Amino acid sequence: MWKELGKFGMGPPSGGGQQPGGGHQPGGPKNPLRRNNPLLWILIIGAILIYTQTDGSLFGPINQSHVSRMALAPEQIKGEFALIDHTGTPRTNQDFLGTHTLVYFGFTWCPDVCPSAMLTMSQVVEDLEAQETVVQPLFITVDPQRDTVEKLSAYVAQLPNLIGLTGSEEAVASALESFGIYRRSHAEGPEDTDYMVDHASFFYLMGPDGTFIQSFEPREGPTKLAIDIERALTG
Ligand code: NI
Repeated sequence: MWKELGKFGMGPPSGGGQQPGGGHQPGGPKNPLRRNNPLLWILIIGAILIYTQTDGSLFGPINQSHVSRMALAPEQIKGEFALIDHTGTPRTNQDFLGTHTLVYFGFTWCPDVCPSAMLTMSQVVEDLEAQETVVQPLFITVDPQRDTVEKLSAYVAQLPNLIGLTGSEEAVASALESFGIYRRSHAEGPEDTDYMVDHASFFYLMGPDGTFIQSFEPREGPTKLAIDIERALTG
């Protein structure tokens, strides 16, 4: 048996053991898993190639650039912000007291998940409206570096009643922290215009008193979300 395994670079336990003092020198103890095993190198190089070509998404159940976990427990979510809307008007969470809001956090350069989430959001708001439930949709950018008032203005025009919110990096960071929204920008400096931003992808339903009611995942789709939100509001 050991003779057969020897063909694959394994052998019987040799009596020698470790050479004294040889542990960390180059070419020290022979390890068949590290040396002279082309299969291992093919596997390693293949894994690196797949990882870099797919942004790592093959290795997880979800795309890591849009995470589905909240950074705060529900009772810790304050939902406070002091930002500027897409018309250039300063807005805070206080301005929306008296109405339900549905808040999404994303960025206008996002190639896939955000646009799809915004379509879902508009469908949900429309479905709720058909049942005479009024919910104000808000879009808070996670990318104030590129999402200027002008950029947001063009973006929100695609959906009825949507209000876009941006601000200084500090104001946006503070808002995201208050909502417990994870965000990591890959910008390599203030002049960078071509980068991705990892962020949590959620709709937050906020009550007329400004408190957090419930979060929802866009991937559940507009029909289910409209039913779930209606239930959260009336149940
Ligand atoms: Ni996105």
